[in-house]
Amino acid sequence: MKRTEMMTEVSPNWDQFYRQDINAKIPFFCREDRIYDCLFSQQFDRHLLDRLFGVADKMRRLAQTKAGADFLASLLSHKRAMLYFVQPSTRTFLSFQNACHILGFKTSEIRDTSISSEIKGETPEDSVRTFSSYVDLIIMRHPVPGFVEKTAWVMNRAKRPVPVINGGSGKDQHPTQALLDVYTLNSCLKGGVEGKTIVMVGDLKRGRTVRSLSYLMKNYKGVRLVFVSPPQLRMEKDILDFLSRHLIPYRETDDLGPVMREADAIYMTRIQDEHDTAGESKKVDYSRFCFRQKDLKAIKDTCIIMHPLPRRDEIELSVDEDDRAVYWRQERNGMWVRAALIAHIFSVEDQILKRS
Ligand code: NCD
Repeated sequence: MKRTEMMTEVSPNWDQFYRQDINAKIPFFCREDRIYDCLFSQQFDRHLLDRLFGVADKMRRLAQTKAGADFLASLLSHKRAMLYFVQPSTRTFLSFQNACHILGFKTSEIRDTSISSEIKGETPEDSVRTFSSYVDLIIMRHPVPGFVEKTAWVMNRAKRPVPVINGGSGKDQHPTQALLDVYTLNSCLKGGVEGKTIVMVGDLKRGRTVRSLSYLMKNYKGVRLVFVSPPQLRMEKDILDFLSRHLIPYRETDDLGPVMREADAIYMTRIQDEHDTAGESKKVDYSRFCFRQKDLKAIKDTCIIMHPLPRRDEIELSVDEDDRAVYWRQERNGMWVRAALIAHIFSVEDQILKRS
């Protein structure tokens, strides 16, 4: 269904809209057959993923020369972006900010609501509506699941609509992290991600990166997933149901030792204790969900070790020296993939791909 048809049917009530099936909501966040608001991993199909990764590669190459970098920076130099990051962030914030600068955007930011008018009692909804008066793009990280989606819903109905990109929404989704993760898997694994076994380790219940990454796997044939977590922090049923519906084989275990041998990629994550309600993380023995120097002998020569970062002690520091540890490369990839996504939203990716 086209967005315009959808608009006439769309409920004016946010709660009703929010409760709808994701597939019914997706057209509302598209315009002219392209993503307008990037909110969920389910918005990406294989064609778009391949295209975005091609754009990211091309931008990377172009940016190596001053002429190429100046060309990229001219494409959207008439645009302004707002980064509204009210949950801690280092790499997502910086990579988005620099992705904007690569394309010529001017950026402004709010990272602390205690110094915005929210402290005077303005609702977050009114506060984000204010941005639309000043900027052409909102990139947002928020602790409440659904809040980024609500912002996009509000902005889409506003007189001056502004696209919204999800930079992490509570425990729910982090779609652009999933994009850079797949880009990294494709570029580091011979033959790409298809047919590979990916082992995701840690707090899978509350980790939004592993959730968004699992959704993207529907676009790749023959992928097998192994979820390794403490019993209290297993992957949620909605993701397991999604995988079953899309015939993606998965298995769950709490023992990393035996499964690391069969992995083509091991995706480590930290415990997400900011979501604790009564100190539940303290009861978890997380030491069994760590990757150590000695484990390097057990894994395949071609297996890569990933992490969305920040890490605590899930990966021993000395592992960084091994060529199979790709998390710093993964982090760098984020800026290029995010720049490619912004180029797509603003319809300049053809110009980038055509540039010699
Ligand atoms: C992740 C996040 O914020 O969900 N970090 C990131 O964006 N690279 C993972 C985490 O915080 O553990």
